[in-house]
Amino acid sequence: MSILSDVKEIEAKVRESMENGPVTPYYSLSLEKVYEVLNAALASEIICVLRYKQHYYMTTSIHQEQLQDLFKEHWLDEEKHLEMIADRIKQLGGVPNLDPNGISKRAFSSFESGHTLADLLREDLLAERVVIKIYSDIVKFFGKADPVSRRMFEEILKDEEDHADEIADLLYTVDPKTGKTVEQFSGDSVSKPFKA
Ligand SMILES: [Fe+2]
Ligand SMILES: [Fe+2]
Repeated sequence: MSILSDVKEIEAKVRESMENGPVTPYYSLSLEKVYEVLNAALASEIICVLRYKQHYYMTTSIHQEQLQDLFKEHWLDEEKHLEMIADRIKQLGGVPNLDPNGISKRAFSSFESGHTLADLLREDLLAERVVIKIYSDIVKFFGKADPVSRRMFEEILKDEEDHADEIADLLYTVDPKTGKTVEQFSGDSVSKPFKA
């Protein structure tokens, strides 16, 4: 009996709030804050796609094919993350911000390159690790208040950890000795110079 009355009460509350937007009155997070967080993650994914594409086209080494396959696989994953996040913003009644102006300001990750393969891989590893830390915080931010967004970031996080792991392995094969200068790699693992 009490369960039934609870359902009626819930239904009335939801019905009343349907005019006010796409989320139920039980959604406790500030939507403005949620859009800001999701759009920052969206911008970060765009940067990740572009960075991996940049590195793909810069790579010219004896391992070119293997490296390009990896960069491409990663950018396809980042594109999938981008779409997941954009869909979630839309589901929550927001607008995914794809305006190229200010993308790097909104993003958590940076767009860096370098002149050697080791440089590229270090930048990728750094970017992945930054994203892993921030997405872990975002998982906590959504917590129990928005389990759908939380699970989405947990899923994305798993991919980012795989990316970091693969890059770290590759970096180790390129740069096994700590302290070796990147210039020493330029003989066998050169990338085309990048000018911003
Ligand atoms: Fe990603
Ligand atoms: Fe990634």
